[in-house]
Amino acid sequence: MGSIRQEVQLAFRYSVHFTNAVFDPPNPVLRDVIADGTDHLPSKIVAVVDDGVHVCHGGLLKQIDNYCAHHEQVLRLAAPPLIVPGGEQVKSDSRHVEEILGVINDAGLCRHSYVIAVGGGAVLDVAGYAAATAHRGIRLIRVPTTVLAQDDSGVGVKNGINAFGKKNYVGTFAPPFAVINDFSFLTTLSDRDWRSGISEAVKVALIRDAAFFGFLERNASSLANRDMTAMRQMIRRCAELHLLHIAKSGDPFELGSSRPLDFGHWAAHKLEQLTDYDLRHGEGVAIGIALDSTYSYLAGFLPERDWQRIMELLPAVGLPVYAPELGSQNLLHGLSEFREHLGGKLTITLLRSVGEPFDIHEIDGTIMVRSIELLKERSTVDELSAQLPLKG
Ligand SMILES: NC(=O)c1ccc[n+]([C@@H]2O[C@H](COP(=O)([O-])OP(=O)(O)OC[C@H]3O[C@@H](n4cnc5c(N)ncnc54)[C@H](O)[C@@H]3O)[C@@H](O)[C@H]2O)c1
Ligand SMILES: [Zn+2]
Repeated sequence: MGSIRQEVQLAFRYSVHFTNAVFDPPNPVLRDVIADGTDHLPSKIVAVVDDGVHVCHGGLLKQIDNYCAHHEQVLRLAAPPLIVPGGEQVKSDSRHVEEILGVINDAGLCRHSYVIAVGGGAVLDVAGYAAATAHRGIRLIRVPTTVLAQDDSGVGVKNGINAFGKKNYVGTFAPPFAVINDFSFLTTLSDRDWRSGISEAVKVALIRDAAFFGFLERNASSLANRDMTAMRQMIRRCAELHLLHIAKSGDPFELGSSRPLDFGHWAAHKLEQLTDYDLRHGEGVAIGIALDSTYSYLAGFLPERDWQRIMELLPAVGLPVYAPELGSQNLLHGLSEFREHLGGKLTITLLRSVGEPFDIHEIDGTIMVRSIELLKERSTVDELSAQLPLKG
């Protein structure tokens, strides 16, 4: 009879580094991250590499090999790097998790060893899930290779794979050991993947930093046109705001229902699913931001001028604000799926102004449908004006 109450506190620390050419032997960042991690050197490593990165960076596996040989007193490759498919397909087939776990097991990694995951957000999610569950947690070093993974997913504390037709249904909260953002990987991204990650920067600016939103407006065309200096600045500030939220919001493992970092994401996840993942996560997020901003405006919370700024910035950085699937009968199911995922009552983040979010617990279906219609009208107007021969 009776009960025992106990509080367990645990602090997580991890660093996010910014560099170029991480696997160039003279680059000390990875070596130092590992050397600082333990007294028992060399540490064993298993590398998981995104096939899309492998194809575009022909010498990468050799470079990883050379890097480890050059720093053999600190890190040792315990198995040849494992190449896995890039993109959403890797998250939708659980055999890839088993494959990674098999390599970790065969290589005899312990909880002081490292999985180094090199790739886009999807590969980082799968490798992160495998690392978090092998031995109940092997150290994970993420080397994100897309804009989205560098400014958002790769610096956070979550991993996951898709199951039962639902995105990220299986996964854990597991902070990485370290993150190394290597800008030189970004040069080989497709234009779509370059631009997709800008939507997470727009999101975090809208919920946290009006001045950063101004930066994005001023640099919209440089960002859309692959200016690396502007992109480096954007990624750094976005990652910093993301990390500040995780560290200071008081809810890093999302135990409550408020999710400002998921602004625009209920519709994004549903659109990704409805398009069979043809839509990139970042493209879905852009449309989701447009939708929830338009709802905020039509419901009388967001001033028209702020709404206009958002609706101008998204296309200016090359992001969509509409997809035909927004009209699907199924779209609004995304709200109940989001509620089920959060637990508790539905909590959707909306805007009062650029930089000022708030939570709401009920969505008016009529206003949501009007928001979708307004986005459709605007996208038609934008498409028509883009076809005008004299458009400046
Ligand atoms: N864990 C989280 O907190 C979190 C947060 C946001 C998003 N995500 C997830 O991230 C995923 C999206 O990630 P993403 O936008 O990085 O795209 P992605 O991982 O789907 O990759 C897109 C494509 O780019 C290729 N690629 C990756 N790096 C490349 C490079 N440097 N050069 C050429 N091609 C390259 C990949 O092979 C793939 O074909 C989604 O599954 C999403 O759910 C996770
Ligand atoms: Zn996202």
